[in-house]
Amino acid sequence: MKILFIGCGNMGGAIAQGMLEHGGFDKSQIDVLLPSNSPHIEEVGKKLGVAIHLDHFPQNTTFDAILFAVKPQTLSEILESYRSYNIPASTLIISIAAGKTLKFFEQVFTENPVVRLMPNINILFNHGVTGAICNTKSTKSHEELVEKMIGKISYLHWFDREDAIDDIIPLSGSSPAYFFLFTEYLIKFAQEKGIPQDVATDMAVKTLLGSAEMIKKSGKSLSELRESVTSHKGSTQASLDVFYEKDALYNLMANAMSAAVLRSKELSK
Ligand SMILES: NC(=O)c1ccc[n+]([C@@H]2O[C@H](COP(=O)([O-])OP(=O)(O)OC[C@H]3O[C@@H](n4cnc5c(N)ncnc54)[C@H](OP(=O)(O)O)[C@@H]3O)[C@@H](O)[C@H]2O)c1
Repeated sequence: MKILFIGCGNMGGAIAQGMLEHGGFDKSQIDVLLPSNSPHIEEVGKKLGVAIHLDHFPQNTTFDAILFAVKPQTLSEILESYRSYNIPASTLIISIAAGKTLKFFEQVFTENPVVRLMPNINILFNHGVTGAICNTKSTKSHEELVEKMIGKISYLHWFDREDAIDDIIPLSGSSPAYFFLFTEYLIKFAQEKGIPQDVATDMAVKTLLGSAEMIKKSGKSLSELRESVTSHKGSTQASLDVFYEKDALYNLMANAMSAAVLRSKELSK
């Protein structure tokens, strides 16, 4: 199997690195295409050790899949150049771009199977979460190809309606940022109270990791875990009451998550 990554930044790089380090792929199975003015060519080469092509699609190589890992805003222009390349109809087109629909890709790749993925950055460490949808040209073998690519490094769920890919953007693509921000704020508050930054960071990060371990291993639901650390009328209860008042935290999160979905829909235009 041979895969070409178009773009290899934060997310493309995480998928490629995850596939190489934990997914059973070797370097000969992944190629990367970058713009010749990219400041990251050397860095990508060092990190992945794969073949890197500059600007032009390597027409003398056959790829089982081409994975578009560029910013959604740049895709229209990039895809235009693919009209002139001779991409076989059997090549699976994969996109991880927020908002860009299957139809958007089908306008250029009229005969190809197309898959949209919404992964998250944790794929780098084998703990990815990815939602997927495929077009009508895709078959079971294309789903299997995607499963071979990322099934070992990510939880993978196939949806049967494309809207779901936009709806899960906050849950998969964006939520690591929420956890990071929440943890940053724990640290910031502790620092404001005079706790040294390194101590606050250790405490907050280790608590985040420990909480994830609790979720994984305790066999309890999230609400049971929350209740188990909340004494009646205790200090944790006092702070949770602030979150609950008029559903303040839920409303804030729902607004933030809706903004991600809305932005994704804007990017589809
Ligand atoms: N970041 C996430 O957590 C996340 C999660 C889910 C989905 N996504 C999606 O993943 C996609 C990439 O996001 P990202 O965060 O990885 O962005 P990024 O770090 O900016 O990576 C974009 C990559 O595209 C390359 N590129 C730019 N123009 C190109 C061209 N003409 N031909 C080939 N490559 C080109 C960039 O090269 P240089 O920058 O080196 O020039 C870079 O390697 C987006 O569509 C985003 O919606 C991201």
